[in-house]
Amino acid sequence: MPQRPVRIAPSLLAADFARLGEEARAVADAGADWLHLDVMDGHFVPNISFGPVVVKALRRHLSIPFDVHLMIAPADPYLAAFAEAGADCISLHPEAGPHLHRSLQTIRALGKRAGVVLNPATPVSAVETVLDLCDLILVMSVNPGFGGQSFLDSQLGKITVLRRMIDAHEAAGGQPIDLEVDGGVTAETATRCVAAGADALVAGTSVFGKPDYAAAIRALRPKVLD
Ligand code: DX5
Ligand code: ZN
Repeated sequence: MPQRPVRIAPSLLAADFARLGEEARAVADAGADWLHLDVMDGHFVPNISFGPVVVKALRRHLSIPFDVHLMIAPADPYLAAFAEAGADCISLHPEAGPHLHRSLQTIRALGKRAGVVLNPATPVSAVETVLDLCDLILVMSVNPGFGGQSFLDSQLGKITVLRRMIDAHEAAGGQPIDLEVDGGVTAETATRCVAAGADALVAGTSVFGKPDYAAAIRALRPKVLD
């Protein structure tokens, strides 16, 4: 299996919300490649987190890329706000609106990387016809809404299928697409995600739940280079 670099994106959802700035800086200093920001509206998912104001406040203090995961519906009215707040990549779920293609075009037009998120029950076909507008595909390995859930093994097959799809797209001259996994990522499940073809991993509990963030991030990186 060819080894590609794997980006680690700690999810701020598992941080101490009373010290968000410090927590975000701590994972950046500890070697995080991206900061994953989970935006929840209490409607698309049964939980509420934070919005563009918080993203903007954090942006002033950090230089690593912001990987913004929108779990809101509708998402379209807020894309510009997240772009202005300093998101580098904005990902949304196909179920969040009627015109995924248009939403991705909007994100690109705002000068940001565009991502599509697939829920455990959402088939790969939901993204197949918009690959040309995707910079990232995010596979949910839990149902979105909460941190600390157990990894769903059933999603590994989807990662493998997407890896093949992305490789074929890139081989045909298409733009590069990152393949990210989110939910229940631990040192053990990370290895299986990477073996299946993932090249970016979101981790909330398995980073912020550990006393040493640098060691926790290191533990998620692939150990064997072929
Ligand atoms: C869930 C979020 C995840 C969450 C992951 O809806 O999208 O990013 O923070 O948390 P862990 O890593 O604890 O499963
Ligand atoms: Zn997320």
